[in-house]
Amino acid sequence: MPTEKALPLLDDKTIAWPKSGSGAGKELGAQIAPYVQTHIVEYEIAHDEAAFIRAVKDAIKQRRIIRTPITPDNLRQVFDRWVAMIGEELGVTAQSDYAVLFFADIMHDGTSEAMHQPAGARLLMTASGPTFLYDGQAYELASDRGYRNFWAIYHRPPQQKHRHYLLERRDSLLPVDEQKFKGAYYTPLHIVDKAYDQLRATLGENWQDRYLVWDMCAGVGNLEAKHSNLRNVFMSTLDKADVTIMKSNPAFSGAEIFQYDYLNDDVTDFGEIDYTLSNKLPIALRQAIADAKDGKKGAKPILVLINPPYAEAMNVDSKKESGGTAATAKKGVSNTRVSHSMADLGYAAREVFVQFLHRIMLELPASHLAMFSKLKYVNSPNFSRFRERWVADYLSGFVVPSRVFDTLKGDFPIGFLIWNLGKDAPSQAIDTFALNRAGEVIGEKAFYRELPRPALADWFVRPRSNKVPALPLNNALVPTDRTGDVRGRFWADGALGSMICKGNDFQNAANATALLSSGYCSAGAFFVTEDNLAQAAVVFTVRRVIKPSWLNDRDQFLQPALPLSDVFKSDCLVWMLFNYNNLSAGANDLLWDNRQWSLVNHFIPFTESEVGAKGRFESDFMVRYIADVAFSPEANAVLEEGRKLWARFHATSFPRKIRDEFKLGRPDAGWYQVRRSLEAYGDTELTEFEPFKSAYASLTAKLRPQIHEFGFLPE
Ligand SMILES: C[S@@+](CC[C@H](N)C(=O)[O-])C[C@H]1O[C@@H](n2cnc3c(N)ncnc32)[C@H](O)[C@@H]1O
Repeated sequence: MPTEKALPLLDDKTIAWPKSGSGAGKELGAQIAPYVQTHIVEYEIAHDEAAFIRAVKDAIKQRRIIRTPITPDNLRQVFDRWVAMIGEELGVTAQSDYAVLFFADIMHDGTSEAMHQPAGARLLMTASGPTFLYDGQAYELASDRGYRNFWAIYHRPPQQKHRHYLLERRDSLLPVDEQKFKGAYYTPLHIVDKAYDQLRATLGENWQDRYLVWDMCAGVGNLEAKHSNLRNVFMSTLDKADVTIMKSNPAFSGAEIFQYDYLNDDVTDFGEIDYTLSNKLPIALRQAIADAKDGKKGAKPILVLINPPYAEAMNVDSKKESGGTAATAKKGVSNTRVSHSMADLGYAAREVFVQFLHRIMLELPASHLAMFSKLKYVNSPNFSRFRERWVADYLSGFVVPSRVFDTLKGDFPIGFLIWNLGKDAPSQAIDTFALNRAGEVIGEKAFYRELPRPALADWFVRPRSNKVPALPLNNALVPTDRTGDVRGRFWADGALGSMICKGNDFQNAANATALLSSGYCSAGAFFVTEDNLAQAAVVFTVRRVIKPSWLNDRDQFLQPALPLSDVFKSDCLVWMLFNYNNLSAGANDLLWDNRQWSLVNHFIPFTESEVGAKGRFESDFMVRYIADVAFSPEANAVLEEGRKLWARFHATSFPRKIRDEFKLGRPDAGWYQVRRSLEAYGDTELTEFEPFKSAYASLTAKLRPQIHEFGFLPE
């Protein structure tokens, strides 16, 4: 608050100033409030974070705190918030009256009108608060909380230079009917709002005036719902029904709206673009495209603003036309005319959004692109061939959880990334803000074009199979039910068991990392031997110790950047041996391929006497392996609590049902059998797992940061 604004306080003779600060009471507060209230700016971080950061930056620069100005770039966003915070408190019945009252409010400086209202609405500041007069009626606020908060954030009136322009936009301002913006994979409007904040921060002042926008898969127009200057906007989409909806929405009056199949219309047999084939593209847009391509001086640059379909050719529900079957839709996508010239892109060509990008690169090579989509094109190993062509300059962006889009299954990041296609500047890392489902910033996240180090999946030797038959397992104690292409049927020399180890990212690691006492019959698995055991335990731990989330879902694991310490390796070994997914076991009488099989357990870290086993363990490999290892206190605590559970297991007489279910016919039962049997017996005699769980949690907490420190994940 500038000092000059505080000076009148000193002239107010009714105020009795106390001698000390502690003498100031509520009464004094009430007397002072009218002087300072209008200078206090309250930001609700959930909605106003960007505005807050901007205001603080500006305040630092100009040595004062300022409110966010209302400009042509944010008019629509400001109006939507005004309706929610103020308009709805007024009891207005005609939707079209909102815009008139909004302008009466913003064109008032809090004391007097800054601009005459052509529509005749007026705002009077009375003792009881603001009163709006319009069409012979008076509107008062049911509560003034929203009013105070709103005007604490925004500055009024708008700058003189913008006033007439803003007033001209009035007729297109109608409160948003969210229902109108629901369709297949629609972008929720609170996320669109964030996209517009990002665009303003990236493209600069007046971007909505300086750029022409084309959304060529507009659906019912969600992405344009926050645009304040529809005269600069072209919206096209596949379905005629969507075109009708957009055309009937007054929020889009002024925009050019047309039906257009972007993946088929105007694409010649040679994969070139010829607008005379369909003649659907508005002349103004053709001209703008030609001018942009020729680099014509003064031509408005084009911003492609899109959220293309997320389907692959194999899975295309969003493109299903009414009455069509999934099969015809599938065929339709894989055979788009655009895709004909994409044969060299392999896997990536199956993605519909890549087909959009392919045509955009050809047709609008100098444009800016702001796109909601999966991040495959940025970082997936499958897309490396596509990335050879994708060399655009990354400007900025954010990621949101896929759950923001009602109909998307799975938990992964969806990016809103802004690119300059006119400049070749492929960068190694894409830095983004991570937003939660509400659109609040929760952190930052980088995505990598190429992995900075080789993949963890290639870090260790996968021993070759030998000729000794092995039992291919499906699970700890369940042989495979596959008949064709059965892997894991032969041992490797010196093998102790095998590890399920599919893929190289969190998404795969969560479900496909486990230790077994025989072969495993699916891709990625490898045999564990004495030689690779230490690495196998590290791989197991790296893949499982950090919780998967929507944000890290597609992150790739890397080979370590630093030499691993002995204590890290032994901590990993213990963490693996006592993990939920250590499915190693000792069992007899497993039936597969018309034969009986046994599993020998090599992964028991205790001797028979340490756990009170009544019979001999067939293998003492693990006891010998760890004989000389100096374990950390955290690992020792896990071993000790684990030993107690193991001992309890051997001291328990399990009923037949549990013995059968967990195949307890041999002394060398594994951790999986120990844990699950005690759990199953819990209804007769409860086992206290807490001390073990707490020791394991300490080891987990110790290991987690080390995954980053040793470089198993990109910085
Ligand atoms: C993910 S939705 C996005 C809709 C809207 N822009 C939004 O963000 O809410 C993708 C839209 O692209 C449309 N679409 C699919 N294939 C298309 C094509 N070949 N040409 C133009 N639009 C297409 C779909 O009908 C759908 O409305």
